[in-house]
Amino acid sequence: MRLDVVTIFPEYLDPLNVSLVGKARARGQLDVRVHDLREWTYDRHNTVDDTPYGGGPGMVMKTGPWGDALDDVLADGYENGSHGPALVVPTPSGRPFTQELAVELSERPWLVFTPARYEGIDRRVIDEYATRMPVYEVSIGDYVLAGGEAAVLVITEAVARLLPGVLGNAESHRDDSFAPGAMANLLEGPVYTKPPEWRGQGIPDVLLSGHHGKIARWRRDEALRRTTRNRPDLVERCDPSAFDKKDREMLSILGWRPGPDGRFGRDPDAVEE
Ligand code: ADE
Repeated sequence: MRLDVVTIFPEYLDPLNVSLVGKARARGQLDVRVHDLREWTYDRHNTVDDTPYGGGPGMVMKTGPWGDALDDVLADGYENGSHGPALVVPTPSGRPFTQELAVELSERPWLVFTPARYEGIDRRVIDEYATRMPVYEVSIGDYVLAGGEAAVLVITEAVARLLPGVLGNAESHRDDSFAPGAMANLLEGPVYTKPPEWRGQGIPDVLLSGHHGKIARWRRDEALRRTTRNRPDLVERCDPSAFDKKDREMLSILGWRPGPDGRFGRDPDAVEE
């Protein structure tokens, strides 16, 4: 997969040399190219922003540098269709970044990221490239960052670990919390490793039992417990057919009751077990 990032802070993307993404690059599984937007400015001050039409606070990134930069980046290797590039525009106004979107992006051969500073990029830039390629405007969460670069790091890591051969164990992302279809989209429960005793704390006996069925059941119960505590919205959204008899027993203990449509809802006063 090829990734291009156009930014006014190329050094912000240095973490792409480290860890999983860095190793994928070294192995040739990822071709990452970071470009300094200011190389496409032609005035003495390397200006990339200007005041917004219509007034208001902040500055808007100008069409000129972005258009010239993207034309040059895209000219090198451009193909139409599914082999062609997709633009990924990090913005708090975008669609939420989810595991499902990570999977979709991981299936594309070439992503071009346009992290913006200030109040964002002049809309005409996005609209113009949208006539030629898919454009994903993506938000990594309901908070406002100073710029999109940190979002590029987040998106890149989530996408890179899905590429064939990048994770050591091809099974490792099958059980991810949020993997499409996995565990009815429950959060994963707690995990333990050696030593068996640490600062007076042991580990749950069931994990030492060697009984795979009981271990799987315990993991599922813990997933239900943690999801109830941290993301009750995920339980509410679950297709009830994803829950077996034992799940339903646990959900009942945790205060969930099936509603008229079969979906689970929780008594707001339910106390946690
Ligand atoms: N830029 C600023 N805030 C952002 C967010 N939450 N997601 C993606 N890009 C952003």
